[in-house]
Amino acid sequence: MKALVFHGPGQIAWEEVPDAHLVEPTDAVVRMEATTICGTDLHILKGDVPAVTDGRVLGHEGVGTIVAVGGGVQRHAVGDRVVVSCISGCGVCTSCRSQNPSHCLAPEGASGIGWVLGHLVDGTQAELVRVPFADTSLHALPASVPDELAVLLSDILPTGFEIGVQYGHVRPGDTVAVVGAGPVGLAAVATCALHGAAQVVAVDRDRHRLDVAKELGATLSVDARADWKAEIMGVTDGAGVDVAIECVGVPETFTMCTELVRPGGHVANVGVHGRPVELALQDLWIRNITITTGLVNTTTLPMLLRLVAAGKLPVEAFVTHRFALSDVLSAYRTFGSAADTHALKVLMTA
Ligand SMILES: NC(=O)c1ccc[n+]([C@@H]2O[C@H](COP(=O)([O-])OP(=O)(O)OC[C@H]3O[C@@H](n4cnc5c(N)ncnc54)[C@H](O)[C@@H]3O)[C@@H](O)[C@H]2O)c1
Ligand SMILES: [Zn+2]
Ligand SMILES: [Zn+2]
Repeated sequence: MKALVFHGPGQIAWEEVPDAHLVEPTDAVVRMEATTICGTDLHILKGDVPAVTDGRVLGHEGVGTIVAVGGGVQRHAVGDRVVVSCISGCGVCTSCRSQNPSHCLAPEGASGIGWVLGHLVDGTQAELVRVPFADTSLHALPASVPDELAVLLSDILPTGFEIGVQYGHVRPGDTVAVVGAGPVGLAAVATCALHGAAQVVAVDRDRHRLDVAKELGATLSVDARADWKAEIMGVTDGAGVDVAIECVGVPETFTMCTELVRPGGHVANVGVHGRPVELALQDLWIRNITITTGLVNTTTLPMLLRLVAAGKLPVEAFVTHRFALSDVLSAYRTFGSAADTHALKVLMTA
């Protein structure tokens, strides 16, 4: 089969590799029909994720059809069209049973980490993928949900909703700031309404992405290069927002969130950070704020799938570019220069 293989920082190739096959009785093999690229794949390409080693097939998002199941798989069968979760949880360990499959203790990839596809085992940017723990990692798709909406359920919609909106404790009537309007930040913007946010302020320095945020439900867009603090304090009577969701992953934007939040509010960090961040506890200790972090669990994937299937989430704007799977290198180039190409999610189809 052909797959997108990582060969060290800056080096990827679309090349022939051995076919993905069943290893454990709980596995399924899926023929990929559509896949996409995550901001995290770009972190891997830069060398920010050293656990990804030479020869690894990348990708942790996608849709396909099951072509083989192990003897222990009960909920899925050959021929089922499914979406692949970016988290592969065994479903029965202590972490999985406490709704934290992102820290699954099973020895697939490494005990304690549920994100294994395209990280610790071969991933979805390929013609075939072996999916561990198929019963809990695959979700049957209704025929009415097209590939280009279904791929959003593998990672970005659950990430924005779980780690941004849920961990941020967004409540009816809240004002929420989402800092970073990339696909993940936009997913937080799009799902804020599920918890009744009254105002959603998108902050970015990319004008095009701010315009998309408005389409997806942001009530105000703020240019991060302008006086963002004055603008946001202006719409919150000088108090700050109830919830600030960090969706970039650099010290500057995390600090921005701590400066935007009102006393008693919440800062939900979603971004993957590569550097330490200074926490101004000398100012923050008195402000009664909560700071949360997290790796997505995708436990809300079935609920979000029902909403997408019912047309209740405005997510059509996410996929901006389409490629053949075999043209994945062009897709990486387009996604990697998003400021020029205006790419959000690039769809590769077999
Ligand atoms: N916690 C998780 O489980 C999880 C899951 C998936 C992705 N992530 C992480 O979430 C983050 C966002 O992902 P993405 O795919 O949307 O990334 P992205 O790079 O496409 O988006 C980041 C956005 O931040 C903006 N930005 C950069 N610097 C800024 C600044 N100083 N002020 C305001 N905006 C700024 C960029 O213009 C861009 O629109 C990444 O760090 C990614 O690795 C986390
Ligand atoms: Zn991802
Ligand atoms: Zn587990």
